[in-house]
Amino acid sequence: MSAITLRNVIKRYGAVEVVHGIDLDVEEGEFVVLLGPSGCGKTTTLRMVAGLEDVSDGDLSIGGARVNEVAPKDRGVAMVFQNYALYPHMTVRQNMEFSLKPLSLPADEVARRVDEVASTLGLAELLSRRPAQLSGGQRQRVAMGRAMVRTPDVFLFDEPLSNLDAKLRTQVRLEIAKLHNRLGTTVLYVTHDQVEAMTLADKIVIMRDGHIEQVGTPEQVYSQPNNTFVATFIGSPPMNMIPARVRQGRLEADGLLLSVPDRFKGVLAEDQAVTIGIRPNGLSLAKDVDHNTAPARVEVTEYLGNEALLDLRAGPHELIAEVPALGRPAPGAEVTVHFDPDALHLFDTASGDSLSL
Ligand SMILES: Nc1ncnc2c1ncn2[C@@H]1O[C@H](COP(=O)(O)OP(=O)(O)OP(=O)(O)O)[C@@H](O)[C@H]1O
Ligand SMILES: [Mg+2]
Repeated sequence: MSAITLRNVIKRYGAVEVVHGIDLDVEEGEFVVLLGPSGCGKTTTLRMVAGLEDVSDGDLSIGGARVNEVAPKDRGVAMVFQNYALYPHMTVRQNMEFSLKPLSLPADEVARRVDEVASTLGLAELLSRRPAQLSGGQRQRVAMGRAMVRTPDVFLFDEPLSNLDAKLRTQVRLEIAKLHNRLGTTVLYVTHDQVEAMTLADKIVIMRDGHIEQVGTPEQVYSQPNNTFVATFIGSPPMNMIPARVRQGRLEADGLLLSVPDRFKGVLAEDQAVTIGIRPNGLSLAKDVDHNTAPARVEVTEYLGNEALLDLRAGPHELIAEVPALGRPAPGAEVTVHFDPDALHLFDTASGDSLSL
């Protein structure tokens, strides 16, 4: 039984449809991340699951039961928002107690739950402080604690780290991962940050313009992207994309000539417009010229410590290569860039769909 199921779920605001009939299964205990650019419908989808927005059409189930018409407080979900405004005049304990108010629990049960969650989150020492006396990461933990005291079956997170600075974001991200490993609660988590998605998710759902483009493990969306959107959205720096044509068993791209790897031989038509995709680490510097190399000029180098990124110009093509930092060429150097045939992706240019089998 899936923890959350969406079947052909549509959201309209007035006459404008913003979520166009999506299907999604979140399994019990799974950590699922909705990832996509701004405005693609992530928050709207999450708010429908929470019951904060009506579902315009389709079926939404939680724990096997249809909940389209069920009140938010009866859905067994708890949401942690991007703007997790804690009540500034209340202590940490009072902030956490506050979310239990609607449940009308006995006072000793309220205290027990708050103490338990506070100890899980390392907040036990801070219960009598006010938000202003906490660090950003501690405040974020209180916001999570507020959701956890309700012992929900499902946690919903909407960009919970976006208000934190880079270092804290990494720390709290790790804490969320540990917490999930320990508690095993089902999580649906929204972000537009691919690193967050890649590091936290069991399963990533990539959205664009109110549609789902691909659902898969972090490894699947990285190494087998369904289309050019997913291919360029996942990975940093992004995958190099080169428009090309199939000519006599080779890929011809404005001065660049690559052989077609065997695995594509059956799926390409002569003269077909294809887009070659190759990640920066699929490019390397070669000593010798062969049929998978091209002459290029180094425009800029970016030193990253272990690796360096090279901005290359090969004829009209601008490419980014990731190479070992040690022995990297200087800007202005003329080099030979090698395309690893095993790292090549091919997409049909017209549809954007992957041609990889
Ligand atoms: N109350 C509303 N009325 C009308 N349109 C809305 C409303 N809320 C959201 N939208 C529209 O729905 C679309 C999806 O919005 P949503 O907030 O779900 O995006 P998002 O993926 O969460 O983006 P972000 O990463 O910026 O938070 C957007 O085009 C937005 O303008
Ligand atoms: Mg949003």
